[in-house]
Amino acid sequence: MSGPESKHLDFSSISPSEFFYRNRQMAGFGNPAQATYSTVRELVENSLDSCEDAGRAPVIAVSLETTASSQVVISVEDNGLGLPYDEVPSAFGQVLYGSKYGLRQKRGTFGLGVTMAVLYGQITTDSPVIIHTQSDNRGWVYRLYIDIENNHPLVEESSERIRSETGTTVTVRIEGDLPRAASRIDDYLRLTSIATPHARLVLRIDDETTLDVGPWTEILPPQPMEAKPHPRSADTELVRRTMAGKQALSLKDYLIGSFQQVGRKTASEFIRFLGLDSKRRVGDLSRTEISRISSVLKSYDSFSRPDGNSLSPIGREAFLKGVQSLYEPEYFSYASRGPLEWDGYPFILEGVIASGAAFPKGEEPTLFRFANRVPLLYDASDDILTKSLKRVSWSRYGIPNGVPWGIFVSFCSTKVPYQAAGKQSIATLDEIESAGLALFRALGRGALKQTKRQKRSKRSQKRMREMKASLRMIARFSADLAEVNTQYADELAANLFRGDEQ
Ligand SMILES: Nc1ncnc2c1ncn2[C@@H]1O[C@H](COP(=O)(O)OP(=O)(O)OP(=O)(O)O)[C@@H](O)[C@H]1O
Ligand SMILES: [Mg+2]
Repeated sequence: MSGPESKHLDFSSISPSEFFYRNRQMAGFGNPAQATYSTVRELVENSLDSCEDAGRAPVIAVSLETTASSQVVISVEDNGLGLPYDEVPSAFGQVLYGSKYGLRQKRGTFGLGVTMAVLYGQITTDSPVIIHTQSDNRGWVYRLYIDIENNHPLVEESSERIRSETGTTVTVRIEGDLPRAASRIDDYLRLTSIATPHARLVLRIDDETTLDVGPWTEILPPQPMEAKPHPRSADTELVRRTMAGKQALSLKDYLIGSFQQVGRKTASEFIRFLGLDSKRRVGDLSRTEISRISSVLKSYDSFSRPDGNSLSPIGREAFLKGVQSLYEPEYFSYASRGPLEWDGYPFILEGVIASGAAFPKGEEPTLFRFANRVPLLYDASDDILTKSLKRVSWSRYGIPNGVPWGIFVSFCSTKVPYQAAGKQSIATLDEIESAGLALFRALGRGALKQTKRQKRSKRSQKRMREMKASLRMIARFSADLAEVNTQYADELAANLFRGDEQ
């Protein structure tokens, strides 16, 4: 009989692309319809990030073509910064490779999105991704695959081809389901144009333009800025990494140079609290001391809040303009909360509440979520913002009261706490939940005030109409009595109200 010691297990490791090849549903590529939507979303997201880096108003053209064999050719063209020639293979042919790992508000996060689309295209149609890009005065076309086992790009062909301006066009062919994905893609682009109101977005399906929206404003928002980590976001690994190359610095200078919200005074106070000598050199600190520094950095409560100036919220005017242009609501108002903080990262929550025929009717307002200007259309019930919305007693604010309502809520931060690699829902965190509740209540109050004002004005208009009618009758009656021309009496009555009607 064989005992447990005689069992033979095969140990091996797999590459990141192999992992996502096996678990593609985790990144939003679970079935053809979802993959069609996710491909568009990932390509558009990258294009918008690149236009933001270029400081340019985005013009993004999405083209979808179906072929008889249920394959969809998806192409997205932008006027962004383009990619340097030698970065193209890794950016598109290596999973978990990207330029967005720093602390900055941006749509991309993982270095995964476009490579998932390439991977999915490759395994379902055996087609390469085609990239035409230009970042200076020379343009390049690449056709490449991913070596899935080794997580490495396989360049099939690259040649020089100039573009009319800098920017990128990415084309992938996937096994897709356009009929099922088309309305989601349309919703996604419309909502994107609310969150990026300075962009023009065009959708062509089988050579017919089905959508052409924006820009709603000519004003470019402030560019999000790279931020240093806040001390409260530091763990032992981050502390160790930020110490690399700074061995000769004193502890005080290291803290000032590596973290935001730490000036000379704060650094001295913090080191005194730690009970260390501020002149200690970073290179002389023991492992136990580094670990203690990181845990005290997290819990020390005298650091100021993370700096919200690095963020780029949509802003009142632009947000209202986008909602107004696309939904033509009867009432709408804006509110915001922040900058606030979750685990050392700054965030701002903004929202617009609106009512009108364009929204579905329901017990509570329909919620449209955005994270760093990206609409989140899936996994709504898992999202902390949906949970917060459900906790509000909307009837207190006279909602819905027979009228359909919508709420657009936008979360922006140097880091979005997504629940999964598919970037569809925000994790449950106390700070975001209470900010969400406060924002929804502020929007509710705004809506209630507007509804009351509207009711008051309707009532006074009605009173005015009634008074006008009776005054005209009195004037005519008096004119009759005085044997004056009744036409003159009518003019007199009309003149009395002229000022009120304007
Ligand atoms: N249209 C584009 N213009 C310029 N650079 C691009 C474009 N598309 C992709 N890139 C580059 O390729 C990198 C990889 O893109 P990818 O979508 O895989 O990851 P990401 O955008 O960094 O993060 P995420 O996984 O969240 O999408 C990006 O970081 C960016 O540098
Ligand atoms: Mg991306």
